[in-house]
Amino acid sequence: MADLSTTFTGIRFPNPFLLASAPPTESDSNIMRAFEAGWGGVVTKTIGLHPVVNVKGPKTKFLRADNSDVRLSMSKRPNTTLVASWNWELISDKTVDWWIPRLEKIKKAYPDRILIASIMAGSGNDKELRNWQALTTMCQDAGVDGFELNFSCPHMDRIDMGSNVGKDKVLCSVVTMAVKEVAKVPVWVKLTPATANIVEEAEASFRGGADAISSSNTFPSLPLIDPNTLDFEMNVEGYVSSGGLGGPAILPLSLAKMAQLMKAFSGKAFSGIGGISNFDHALSYFLLGCGTVQVCTAAMLDSAIGPNVIKALTAGMTEFMEKRGYASADDFRGIRRDRVVAHSQIKRPEQLEYHGGYEDDVEGYAKPAEQPVTA
Ligand SMILES: Cc1cc2nc3c(=O)[nH]c(=O)nc-3n(C[C@H](O)[C@H](O)[C@H](O)COP(=O)(O)O)c2cc1C
Repeated sequence: MADLSTTFTGIRFPNPFLLASAPPTESDSNIMRAFEAGWGGVVTKTIGLHPVVNVKGPKTKFLRADNSDVRLSMSKRPNTTLVASWNWELISDKTVDWWIPRLEKIKKAYPDRILIASIMAGSGNDKELRNWQALTTMCQDAGVDGFELNFSCPHMDRIDMGSNVGKDKVLCSVVTMAVKEVAKVPVWVKLTPATANIVEEAEASFRGGADAISSSNTFPSLPLIDPNTLDFEMNVEGYVSSGGLGGPAILPLSLAKMAQLMKAFSGKAFSGIGGISNFDHALSYFLLGCGTVQVCTAAMLDSAIGPNVIKALTAGMTEFMEKRGYASADDFRGIRRDRVVAHSQIKRPEQLEYHGGYEDDVEGYAKPAEQPVTA
């Protein structure tokens, strides 16, 4: 029998599959059901100090494509394939005081399963940095195994919260340092994919002491406009705001972010997230170098916590390892990292020379016109 257990940032996981911070991990009952179903770990729905109030009406919908047409819509109908989730849900609407006794209860009931607390606070001044530390201390005393700092929620208006932290290299370092000052367990940083070069924010987070980077959160996006009503398919009284795209549509996008990170940092730990619903999807992240992967959209659509998804992930990994004779995930982690190269390193047809856009007779660049001879 293949051994699916793995050590990631010093934590021993029974398997490398985690539920991501989101509705599947929004309560103790969900988390305990998830452990019962076989998930190796969970990242809690992001916990804050202060109460938040979500928008009126649905917080998440699913974008589907007709199987026999090119129609894309969130409307429920038969014969469709899932393309993406779209959400504008804020962090947990329960505060840290609600969470603490529940975190204790979960750890007591499932001591060998891994409980990571996702946390978020403002970051604009020293008092708010102390809020990060207060959240850390409280959750740590409740027995969590690690932290994931949410620098990635795409729908926070505050300039010093969520993905706005993940877009600011100084804040990435400063907040991570503040948390590391009091944390006795590993600290992961979940970065937003919505920046020009995620390597810069990852570098800043590592400089602050991060033990791992998680990527991706959802990508900033809008729902489509219904051609009949001329309203956004998701709106409140006609209005919409930027939300986050997850699910199958973001798998290649998240892989590209992960590949950038993998090329930039060797020997660092990464948790891959985005569009995973079976082992083939997870495998792409492992082959690039991720030590764990996290799942949200696919689990939301499978009895809220993904019992069938985790069954398929562990069965797929077991079959893959047995077929190829791998004893542990260490045997295949990162073995395709080096296959992502600069465009100029991709082979051209034998008879043609590639000039990389630097010379005047390169493809895509017109040759300068002959200068008229002036005598
Ligand atoms: C409804 C919903 C709520 C989410 N809430 C959080 C959150 O509180 N904290 C967080 O870090 N990520 C949150 N996420 C992002 C997910 O953890 C995950 O990064 C993203 O959905 C991509 O994974 P997927 O393609 O498997 O859905 C949320 C996603 C959804 C769909």
